[in-house]
Amino acid sequence: MIEVHDGLFCLHTKSTSMLLRRTAFGHLELVHYGAAADAADADALAVKRTIAYGCATNYAANDPTYCLDVVPLAWSGEARGDYREAPIEWDTDLGAASDFRYAAHEILDGAAIMERLPQARTPDQTLAITLTDEAGAELILFFSVFGDTDVITRRAVLKNTSDTPITVKKLMSSLLDLPGRFVMTTFSGGWIAEARAERVPVGAARVVNEAVTGFSSNRHNPGFLLSEPDAGEDHGRVYGFNLIWSGNHYAAAQRSFQGITRVMQGVSPADFAKKLAPGESFCTPEAVMSFSDAGFNGLSAHMHDFVNRHIVPAHWQERERPVLYNSWEGCGMDFTERRLVELAKKAAKLGCELFVLDDGWFGARNSETAGLGDYAVNKKKLPDGLTGLADKLRALGLDFGLWFEPEAVNPDSDLYRAHPDWAITEPGREPVYGRNELLLDLTRPEVRDYIVDSVGAVLDSADIRYVKWDMNRHSTALGAKAYDYILGFYDVLRRIFAPRPEILLENCASGGNRFDLGVLCFGPQVWASDDTDPIERLDIQNGLSYLYPLSCMGTHVSAAPHSQTLRQTPLSTRGNVSFFGLLGYELDLKFLSSVDEKDIRSQIEFYKKYRSLFQFGRFTRLPAPEGETRWQVAREDCAAAGMFYRLAPAAPGMDELRLADLAPKARYTVMARQQNLRVGDFGELVRYVVPVRLNPKGVVMSTADSIYVMPDCAEVMEASGAALMSGIRLENRYAGTGYNENIRMLRDFGSRVYIVQKQKEWGDSET
Ligand code: DGJ
Repeated sequence: MIEVHDGLFCLHTKSTSMLLRRTAFGHLELVHYGAAADAADADALAVKRTIAYGCATNYAANDPTYCLDVVPLAWSGEARGDYREAPIEWDTDLGAASDFRYAAHEILDGAAIMERLPQARTPDQTLAITLTDEAGAELILFFSVFGDTDVITRRAVLKNTSDTPITVKKLMSSLLDLPGRFVMTTFSGGWIAEARAERVPVGAARVVNEAVTGFSSNRHNPGFLLSEPDAGEDHGRVYGFNLIWSGNHYAAAQRSFQGITRVMQGVSPADFAKKLAPGESFCTPEAVMSFSDAGFNGLSAHMHDFVNRHIVPAHWQERERPVLYNSWEGCGMDFTERRLVELAKKAAKLGCELFVLDDGWFGARNSETAGLGDYAVNKKKLPDGLTGLADKLRALGLDFGLWFEPEAVNPDSDLYRAHPDWAITEPGREPVYGRNELLLDLTRPEVRDYIVDSVGAVLDSADIRYVKWDMNRHSTALGAKAYDYILGFYDVLRRIFAPRPEILLENCASGGNRFDLGVLCFGPQVWASDDTDPIERLDIQNGLSYLYPLSCMGTHVSAAPHSQTLRQTPLSTRGNVSFFGLLGYELDLKFLSSVDEKDIRSQIEFYKKYRSLFQFGRFTRLPAPEGETRWQVAREDCAAAGMFYRLAPAAPGMDELRLADLAPKARYTVMARQQNLRVGDFGELVRYVVPVRLNPKGVVMSTADSIYVMPDCAEVMEASGAALMSGIRLENRYAGTGYNENIRMLRDFGSRVYIVQKQKEWGDSET
């Protein structure tokens, strides 16, 4: 809800408020952003200004206390006394200075629609404040309120109202001056190591989170947090920020000597320059922000609800996603229809619902060096074409999904031979390649038309229900071209998928090189990482979980030892980690033993039973001892908790399971998901449980290993919600002194998943 009282703008969500005030000189002061507050609180909440600071540049001769350097602002400019970082840099007829002051405002129901940029759906209201600058420019700041999810979004539109061109070199989507000390958490990394949470105190030196690879990037996710230094997962004040944008981005935080932290976010100004002719406008992407005084988990809950309700396409909102099988890690580009159908038969038998044919199905695409760009089916591999394969999959009860990488081209392709100028290169220089690819110039309409037509034709040629849209190199396009490239990318996605809303679109860019809110506006899920090692995935999924819900993370089970880490992890752990996301399988099913098959079947059955809980339940990062990770998802009457261990200690102590979000008085049954131990994992230790001496590497043992399993400890307990939230004690862990059915056998990289079911007589009780 938005109210305006005589120059005071109050934006309220369910439990937060933002108060903005027009100062006597027309600047936009940020009076408050945080917990709910009233208009009547504005004077008390405002930062006081009763003294003149030394070494200050005064804005006005008649008020020595009005120095822009010390006013907490929601927008600022340059060369008028605010020496903090400016949200705008430009060249105008009046030079580089800027001073935007209030001209008008308007409250709109719902959103102010953007034509070319994706934006969050269905806000309650939008406040548009128009500021003007003497150089001949109008700046409209849009604030949209998403009351149900405690999110406010912001963006800026700059219009050249002068009669000479203006060059914009930097224009942020949002600027906030927040009183207080903060720690900034960013989610950084690289290929197969995305979204590692890193914490840096924000001090007098500027902290920057920026991507300049052309995409939102696996190096620096655009989302970040600012928290008070003592905040934790379940307590303390935390702000969260993100950007609905898939290109170069920039965010900075810096504390002034008065203790006010300036935080801004928007498109990266690196090499950026956009010339605006008279009458032309430039529109920034929409920035997303939220506040919680219930710690990081509280903040994550707001962001998750926001993505689920206001970002993903309406068709996919709360719609359960299929368990998929993807051909990539199992067979790469080396397949025939026969091999695929064999895999599909197994996948269907195991319970998968969707079969995704990954890279290698078209043109001369038999390796990474050729074929990209030519979307004609390779008839040697698929003699009956895509329809033939789709029909065979349908007969097995599977939906069909297909991989594309439409933005890139291999120089060794018919497309490149016909249109070498469609590829982005740097004039007069030798091209630089990434994975033997160049990017197509999506700023050109004919290139976009080619992609829309060729991908659209394939999608209409067979019964295709899912698309994996990949992109495997960094861009070299600079500045404004990098910005226009992303607009071109959005145009292509809109034209392909808006008329086909029921196709499930999963974005991917070498894994998580484009995990952002921009792509989520077009398709509800993103392949989180090419790293499918479950232990690495704990950090990646944990990092992403701060700002993105499980319903948008592709999480697949792959082979062990893992191709990137050589780590040998139990199948149970590979499944348990993948349950916390969108479950899929990517391994060669041909070599599964019968016990592996049985285990996978039971994993899929389990996931399907609790699918809506895992995909849409409230997610919490639970407290865990050093080196362990614990997660929970909860809905009204049921929760699931995952406990993930790394190295197994000798003589482990007792383990406590402490849950969250339960009804304190209701009674719950806690049950460990039944998982099995592999006979082969015990090597010569089997001598303790079988009367004969067996060669641990012999035929008897390896046969036993593929047929028999030993059930892991079956734990069942009953407790009140209050006891579970205070912490219940689990069965003892194995300590080298014997094995029985009440010992939790947790070796290196072991894990357990518990289902916590509210007992029937407590119905939907919240007490
Ligand atoms: C990179 C993706 O992240 C992988 O999952 C796979 O689709 C390959 N590209 C195919 O080339």
